[in-house]
This record gives sequence, structure tokens and C-alpha cells, in this order.
Amino acid sequence: MRNILVVGSGGREHALGWKLSQSRLVDKIFFAPGNGGTTNNVAISAEDIDRLAEFAKKNDCFTVVGPEVPLSLGIVDKFIGEGLNIFGPTKAAAQLESSKIWAKEFMKKYGIPTAPFAVFDNADKAKNYVKSLDYDVVIKADGLAAGKGVIVCSSKNEAFEAIDTMLIKQTFGNAGKKIIIEKKIDGVEASYIALSDGNVAIPMATSQDHKRIFDDDKGPNTGGMGAYSPTGVIDQDLADVIQQDVIDRTVESMKKEGIQFKGFLYAGIMISGGKPYVLEFNTRMGDPECQPILMRMDSDLYEYLKASSDGSLDNLPPISWKKQTAVCVVLASKGYPDSYSKNEPISGLENISGNNIMVFHAGTKRENGKILTNGGRVLGVTALGDTLQDAITNAYSAVAKITWDNKYCRNDIGKKGLAYL
Ligand code: GLY
Repeated sequence: MRNILVVGSGGREHALGWKLSQSRLVDKIFFAPGNGGTTNNVAISAEDIDRLAEFAKKNDCFTVVGPEVPLSLGIVDKFIGEGLNIFGPTKAAAQLESSKIWAKEFMKKYGIPTAPFAVFDNADKAKNYVKSLDYDVVIKADGLAAGKGVIVCSSKNEAFEAIDTMLIKQTFGNAGKKIIIEKKIDGVEASYIALSDGNVAIPMATSQDHKRIFDDDKGPNTGGMGAYSPTGVIDQDLADVIQQDVIDRTVESMKKEGIQFKGFLYAGIMISGGKPYVLEFNTRMGDPECQPILMRMDSDLYEYLKASSDGSLDNLPPISWKKQTAVCVVLASKGYPDSYSKNEPISGLENISGNNIMVFHAGTKRENGKILTNGGRVLGVTALGDTLQDAITNAYSAVAKITWDNKYCRNDIGKKGLAYL
């Protein structure tokens, strides 16, 4: 039996801990720093990797890293250097997410399908480049920007504004000192996440995120307002193509660069004309994709994360999944992704019960026995159903039972998937 340390405080981390707690191989689960829905919380920030290592050593933990920032800071390298067991990619492998320029150049070098692009650190040159193009563009900050560093432009003026935002106003700080200008590809977006041990990569279930704040995919991007799994947007033939041309090729090509990729490899895919294009890589589970994916997982998550870390995924059978669909509706604080209030008491959580529903906490805290809001994305109400429509109905009937002042959610999570059944 192993103790586990889950690093992070979001809905993804609550879901990882919840699923790991079902393993017969797992003893106690700690969360650092965790949230109002997690227990055994340890007051260490997800970025304080020295203190996390001390804690993991003292409590003999296998550590599972949820978010990208500690990965980009080298938490895995630090733990390995100290002889500690940890799941996730090294700092070098995490460059696939922490530098979009590194990732695009890597994709270009190894023929991984992605949109044409150019890199700039000078606003005038960037604008002249945009003027020379006969297509719309997407402008991306090179570094980590909490999901906000991507601006999809529908005109040259929007592109000029985005260039100014990043290179002149420096809204994203160092993350936006260099930018990518890439061709905007029209199509349907979906998430394809695999688990790799550095040699092989096995698929997780497919999913689709809802990144914009408002219904019908309107308004600014967020970290994700809901997701469902599996998605009909990726059928088996397309999944085979993505697995081979994106995931397997990436793991193989990383090896050619002298880097073993261990951990979750998340490809944000645009499907256009039946073909997949990589919009971005993440080197961790998606949030909120993690929540519906893990609701459907029947296999023991710990065994798979341990095998990823040990390089022994080959010895395990394919992951087994429930046939049902899972839908996660994110309940947010009104005003997110900009400013919003905190410390609102949440009521109705006690009215949610049953095996088919889980409320994963994200921006919450527990004070004097009460659960209060403590962030932009507050809860991920996740439900199973025999069909996508059933899962949507189950999720929204639970959503209706949970209330607080300034609660906001989208009302159309999963709806766009109905067209692909
Ligand atoms: N849901 C998108 C992400 O995790 O980056």
C-alpha cells in the first residue's frame, strides 16, 4: 500500500485523488494544497517544490502532479534526483507545453500535423507579416498564461491588437515576450489525451472541452467551462490516425531529442477536412476533461500512473472504460474569467447523492464546517448517463440543486456533441 501526494488544488486534482482512492494499492492520499472538497490537505503551494519533496520523503509518498507550473519548474527532476517516486514529465519533456515555440518547432521538425506559423518578438515585423497573409491568424504567447495566451483573430485589425497586447502592453509578462502567429484552421476542436511511459503511449478516453465563457462558444476563453467523454467528434478511424501521427510520433521524436516523455500527453486537436491538426500540447491531464474521463475509468488509475513512471506500461492491458457517457458542468463565480467575488457560502451540496454523480471541487475552501467559494471555477458537477443526452440531463439536474450568490454556468455543455452521435 502506498501513500499518495496529489499536487494541485483544482477539479482535476480532486478527480485524480478520488479515482486513486479506489485503488486497493493506495493507502492515504494527501493534497498540496488541495481545496474545500479534498481531505488531508497540506499547506504547501503546488510551486514550492523543495517543501513538497520534503513532505513526500517524510510520508513515503508516490507523487502525482496535476498542474503545468510545477512541471515547468522541474518538480519531476527534483524528485527523481532525490530518489522519490513521482508521476509526470521532466522539465525538458514539459517544454511541449511550457514553450509553444519549442512545441511548434518540434512538430515542424518531425512532421507532426499542425498549422503553418512564424515567430516574432518585434511588433512591427509581426504586423508586416500579418499584412502579407491572405488568411486569418491565431496569436499565441510563447509561455504559460493559464489558458489565456491564445487570441483567435477574425480580421487584420484584431491581429494587430493581439500583437500590441502581447508585445507592446506585455499583458502576459515574460510569457508573451515572444509570440507565434499561426494560420487559423477552421474545424471542430477535441481533446485527445494519452498516457506515456517514455516508450509507449496508451490512449485515455476521448473528450471535448467548452473553452469559451458563454453558451454557443461565445465570449473570452476560460480554463474550460465543461467537458464530456467520450466524444463522437473523434471516431475510431480518426483516433487511430491521431494516435499514430500525433501521439506515437511525438513520443518517438522526443526520444530522438534525448527526452523521455512520461506522463499525460494531451493534444488539443482541430479536425478540419477529416484531418487532425495539433493546436497545442499540454503535458498533463486536462481540466475539466479529467473529471468526465476518470468518472468512466474502470481500471485502477494508480497501476497506470505507476507504470508510466516505471516505464512498464507495456505490461498492462488496455484501460477499461464504462460504456456510459460522462458530462462535467463547471459552476463558476459570475465575472470569471475576469474579476469575481469570493467567500460566498455554497448550499445544496448535501442534496447530491448516487454513484452516477460526483461534485468535484476546484475554487472552494472549508471554513467552520461550511464550504465557501474561493476561485473562478468553483465546482465540476459530473454525471454519468447511458447516453450523452442522459448524462447532460443528470448533470444539470444536480446543478440546479447547488446554489450561491453569483453562481454562473453555461447551459449547453455537451450539446455540441449530440450532432456527432
Ligand atoms: N481544458 C483545457 C486545459 O486543461 O488546458
